[in-house]
Amino acid sequence: MTLPPALSSRGCPVLHGADFAARPEAVYDQLRAQGPVGWAEIAPAVNALVVTSHRAAVTLLNDTNGYSKDARRWKDLNNGYVPADSPVLAMMAWRPSVLYTDGQEHARLRWAMDDCLSRIDLHELREITERSARTLIAGVTEQGHADLMADFADTLPMLVFAELLGCPEEMSRRMVHACQALIGAGPEAAQGGADFAAILQELIHLRRRQPGQDLTSWMISHPARLSNDECLNQLFCAVGAGIVPVAAWMAWSLWLLLRDDAYAGNLSAGTVTIRKALEKALWEYSPMANFSAHYATKESWLQGAVIPAGVPVLISHAAANTDPALPPGLGYGNRSHLAWSTGPHRCPAVSPATTMVQAGTETILNLLWDIELADPAADVPLRHGPFHQCPQAMPVRFRPKPAERIIRTTNAGGTA
Ligand code: HEM
Repeated sequence: MTLPPALSSRGCPVLHGADFAARPEAVYDQLRAQGPVGWAEIAPAVNALVVTSHRAAVTLLNDTNGYSKDARRWKDLNNGYVPADSPVLAMMAWRPSVLYTDGQEHARLRWAMDDCLSRIDLHELREITERSARTLIAGVTEQGHADLMADFADTLPMLVFAELLGCPEEMSRRMVHACQALIGAGPEAAQGGADFAAILQELIHLRRRQPGQDLTSWMISHPARLSNDECLNQLFCAVGAGIVPVAAWMAWSLWLLLRDDAYAGNLSAGTVTIRKALEKALWEYSPMANFSAHYATKESWLQGAVIPAGVPVLISHAAANTDPALPPGLGYGNRSHLAWSTGPHRCPAVSPATTMVQAGTETILNLLWDIELADPAADVPLRHGPFHQCPQAMPVRFRPKPAERIIRTTNAGGTA
């Protein structure tokens, strides 16, 4: 008999660490046993309420009077109870960006974010993603095996973002390095975050002098008249919010395609099949698993649960999507999943993120057409943090192919 996951010293389900990474659904069941909202430990000595009910999540996410995104309301943090080096602070501590603001201030920053993201030419984005994917594939194609995460999915969004931001080549290399440290969530994460912010600062100064057709220049010159600090934090938020979920979404989509006969047997159906896998991954493996931190503006109730003011209330997009109370047989084409969240803070990057994930997935399947999972029956180990549902590693194999051929097709802009 398998024992349920251990509870924290305060008797709460533990939403971080190896046990959670190995059995997230078992921990969501422990949370569900508390009702639509339950207490969880999200990092050592850090507790939060977590919403697992789809209905309660939608109610909260649309209640802009009852809930705020301003992390300066977090009482335990203000009172010094959250360890200064807690790994959750990188994502939850307040910054002057769209993610932590409400009302008019949010509308102003969101206006700038929406406008800048909508200026990305999706055809060009597809080309950048395909070209970057080919470069990464050329690095492993001769060895006949790879780790889809380390060798592909983790790095691809960084290469693409560096180009979207308008980074000169040398700065791109430094940015990828800094982001790798940041998303590693290890001891080097804080330094990675500081390095990334310093590079963005440098880039903002450069693009003020030499504007181009890129996210940085568009953010600087937006009529919302953002300060340097706001520009920096907006860009930090877009890249910080984008890299890991894009990597995770791509990995889960590939995993579904490679593992499930219903997809893999039918790869010739091409784009339609890949789109189906992308949708299924959003329902079953929500890349942003637990996030959307909100703070009740005053003590209130959410579907029978008391929500004290000043406590972070996280939405479990993952648990809400697998909520047993959802009507059966919704079908993956149904878009009521919460992987993108909902309400005013819903992800503003659905189109660019979808383009990147689809282009990355298609390119790898085109170039490594005989790719297979090294062990299709093996469980996929997840990363340990509470926020992302992201594989740690995904070993694959394929027949070795000459890198020369992939580089040639890259230069020619065609498929292998
Ligand atoms: C190109 C890649 C991406 C970019 C640039 C991006 C950017 C952003 C930004 C700026 C926000 C904050 C919006 C606001 O507070 O008004 C956000 C929110 C969010 N994004 Fe994305 N995102 C990307 C990809 C993804 C992916 C792949 C997922 C998962 C499928 C995702 C899920 C979410 C969720 C759940 C939120 C709500 C967070 C919250 O309320 O705290 N994003 N995203």
